[in-house]
This record gives sequence, structure tokens and C-alpha cells, in this order.
Amino acid sequence: MSYKIPYERLMFFKQKIGVDPKVQAALQLHAPLLAAHKEEFAAYFEEIFGNIEQTRPYLEVQNYPGQLQKIWMKWFEELFSNEIDHSFLDKVWRSGLTHVRINLDHRYVNLGYCLAKRFCREIIEKELPQHDKANVHEAVEKTLDLCLLIETDAVITSTFQCDSEVIKGVTHQIRNPIMIIGANMMRLKRNGSTPFESASQTYDTVLSESRRMEKLVSDVSTYNEIFHAPSKWTQISLHQELKRAVENCRILYSLSSLDLQIGFARRDINVLGNPEEIQLLLQHLLENAFEGVDPDNPVISIQTSPDPGTPKFALIEIFNTGKLAHAEEVETLFTPFYSTKTAGTGMGLSIARAVVQKIKGSVDLQAVPGGVICLVALPRGKS
Ligand code: HEM
Repeated sequence: MSYKIPYERLMFFKQKIGVDPKVQAALQLHAPLLAAHKEEFAAYFEEIFGNIEQTRPYLEVQNYPGQLQKIWMKWFEELFSNEIDHSFLDKVWRSGLTHVRINLDHRYVNLGYCLAKRFCREIIEKELPQHDKANVHEAVEKTLDLCLLIETDAVITSTFQCDSEVIKGVTHQIRNPIMIIGANMMRLKRNGSTPFESASQTYDTVLSESRRMEKLVSDVSTYNEIFHAPSKWTQISLHQELKRAVENCRILYSLSSLDLQIGFARRDINVLGNPEEIQLLLQHLLENAFEGVDPDNPVISIQTSPDPGTPKFALIEIFNTGKLAHAEEVETLFTPFYSTKTAGTGMGLSIARAVVQKIKGSVDLQAVPGGVICLVALPRGKS
């Protein structure tokens, strides 16, 4: 989903909170002294959030060691030394979007801003000349209040936009089957003595369209739950969950000549996440492979391995013969309601993406010679 940053509203908040040139001058006057505490600040956040059950996993699952500490250090340094201009507002607003994407509970960001205020208050008290203290205290308070308001604005905007796009999508998607069902029912009503064969076709259409709606409603409610439910970081056996999803798909798609190749890592890998959500993720990705496989040469292969790039992640590679629809615009395949199949709801890959984003994993599709590869990276637990 793309977002337009509401600069006008953010500038309005800036003005109402009173972040004016006087405030910025007060911050910049002692910027080097305050910014010199950036490492201590990042360590303080690490200590606090590393000891909170709900936030600890974000510190354990980082793209590279020290990533979050680096982000916090940079943010703290720029707070004092940069102009509070569009580019600053942009960064803070985007951090709100990122926090929503990874499903970080906004209350912990709120807590972070309270702690940042306390941290700054102590430095100002200890290290600044008496005659500057009051002005700098006020400037820091106002700037942090503004940051929190901007972050909250992004959280509300993105959550609302996601909800309203889903509602718009549902309305649009349901209109078609309802019209088809309506037209078929009218035909039946008009021709009271419809021949058996023709009536039977009409019943089939009505049934398949209502099944499509049922599936759509169920997928949308799943997507919505994933989007809003708090993250869970349980240890899950990857191989066990994969086997279960494979079995489900074998029953669902009876492809008699399917060549299914399974190449799991020698030792089982534990991944982190919510067991139900991981099961949904694997189920939807495998369904995607089973549905897309070339019926004339049906081959699906599933491999797992520890990520050679970073030991913190496990990799799943799902290959199927067949073609990748819209290979040049893979991102659109992950957009809610985008489907290349007549009976599809277009929610499967969006559900998969929503699950991996919550746990800081990734999922990608690529066209390769002879087929399509789906690559998934999931954070590893203890093995
Ligand atoms: C005052 C509080 C906080 C501030 C100012 C802040 C600031 C930021 C910023 C500037 C980014 C980069 C945004 C981007 O990618 O555009 C970010 C990302 C992130 N923050 Fe925060 N953050 C705060 C609290 C927290 C807390 C409490 C956690 C959880 C322990 C957290 C976890 C993350 C994670 C996981 C990312 C994404 C890193 C990635 O791209 O993989 N943040 N934050």
C-alpha cells in the first residue's frame, strides 16, 4: 500500500505544539553535547526493551547484529542536530509505518518516547549550564511530543487505510458474484418450466459463486485478524508444519501424476511465530504452488535450510513448474484481491505477506527457467 505523507497536517501539529525557530535554536545550541549520548541512549533502550517480553523478540530478530541500536542512535543524534523540516517529519512518519508493518504494539513506542524524555531530562540537569536548562528542557519536551504525535498520525493513517481498502475490496469483489447469482435466479423465476439441464447449470453457477463469496469472507476475516492480532513468538517445528500443509494440499488438489520432491534440512528447524499463522502462511504458499503447477509436467519441490546469509533465519524454497503471472510486477501479486484465477479471492499471498511481516521475515516470488520459485525467510528459534 502506498501512502502520501500529510505534510500540511504535520506542519499544523508542529505549529500547535510550538516547535518554532526558538525551540530549534535551543536544541541546536547544545546539540553536540546532547548527541554525544547517542550510544548510551541506544544501550538504555536495548536494556529496557530487551527485558520486556513483548518487545524482546524484535531485538533478538534483527537483520544484522546491532541494527536497532544503530537506528535508535541515529534517530537520537538527528533529533538535536537536524532542522525539523519536511525531511525530518518524513523520517518520523515512516518509522510509524514501519512499526505498524512489523506489528509493534504502539503502546511500546509511546513508552519509548516517555523514556527518551526522561533520559534527556537527566542529561540536561547534569550537564547543561543552569541558565540554559529551562529553555532546552522545554525544547526537548516539545520536539518529542511532536515526534510522538507524528508517529501516532502514521499509525492511525496506515491502520485506517488498510481497513478501508479491505472494506472497499470486499464491497467490489462481492458485487460481481451477487449480480451473477441475482441474474441466474431471475432466469429461473422467469422460466418456471426450465429444462432440467439448463436449470442444473444455473444451480452450479449459483453454488460456485456463493462458494467464492464464502471463501472471500473467510479469507478477509483471516487477513484482518492477522493484521490486528498481537505478534506471538512461539517455537514451531518447521518440518512438522510443512508436512501438515503438504498433506492438506495433496487432499485438496488430487494431482495423480504430481512429482513432489521434498528436501528438508537434515535437522528440523525451529522457527518463531504464531503456530496458527505459520500454518496459514505455509498452507497459502503451497496452495499457490499447487494451483500454479504446469498440469502437463506437474513438479513441486520443497526445500528447507538454515539461511547461509544470516544464522538468525531459516529458508524455505518452494518450486513449481508453470508460469509466474505478471512476472514483471511481482509486488502486485501480494496485493489484496489481486487474483489471476477465476475462482480466486486474491487474498492468499496477501495473507502470507502479512504473516511474515509481523515476524520480520520475508517472502518473494521469482520466475526461473522452467517454473516459479517462492523464497521465504523466517526467524529461527532455538534448535
Ligand atoms: C521512541 C521510540 C522509537 C523510535 C523513535 C523508533 C524509531 C525507529 C526508526 C526511525 C525506524 C526506522 C524506520 C524505517 O525503516 O523507515 C525504526 C524501525 C524499527 N523499530 Fe523503532 N523506534 C522506537 C521504538 C521501538 C521499539 C520499542 C521497538 C521494539 C523493541 C522498535 C523496533 C523497531 C524495528 C524492529 C524496526 C524495523 C527495523 C527494520 O527495518 O527491520 N522500535 N524505529
